[in-house]
Amino acid sequence: MVLRKELENILMNEALARCRYEVFAEIAREEGLHYIAKVLEETAHNELSHVRELMRMLDLIGDTKQNIGVAIENETLETNRIYPNLQEMSLVENDLDKARFFQQLAKIEARHMERLSKIEELLKVTRCMSGRNPSYGNAEPAAISMKACSHPRSVRDVKARCSASSQKTSAYRGVEVCCMNAPFAVISMTNQKKR
Ligand SMILES: [Fe+2]
Ligand SMILES: [Fe+2]
Repeated sequence: MVLRKELENILMNEALARCRYEVFAEIAREEGLHYIAKVLEETAHNELSHVRELMRMLDLIGDTKQNIGVAIENETLETNRIYPNLQEMSLVENDLDKARFFQQLAKIEARHMERLSKIEELLKVTRCMSGRNPSYGNAEPAAISMKACSHPRSVRDVKARCSASSQKTSAYRGVEVCCMNAPFAVISMTNQKKR
């Protein structure tokens, strides 16, 4: 138990070091010190591998479904508790700039939460499409095409439907995937018939 606590503390320190070096690298670049920036970036990358190992030791890495669940939990906490509390504290101290900033952060975290929740829904569709979802029995596998989206914050409707057509479920019809600043958006979903 003592070891676990210590490992958790070291994990926080390594995670902070990783971010710190990324930020320091940005500063070095702004100052035109590109070699130093590169060293800092490489060091940050190394710190990430330390973070990864510690997360493994602490059993903090699951499969994607579990990871998305953890991420949603965290974004929910930031949206509903952490930033509203900080906004409140800033108002008490009459620091309006900070209050506005935390209000804005809470809104951004809410968007993260929303985007991840949509991905969680999408994962259900994917499971359905791959035929592994017991609810859909022998659903035909289908392909989901993803590509980089150049429209930040655009919302695309995906005419998603379980390919086990006899189900004709409405649950997966018109799933919206908001790409915001995400590196991908679902753009099409096509049946992949067995040959
Ligand atoms: Fe380290
Ligand atoms: Fe976030």
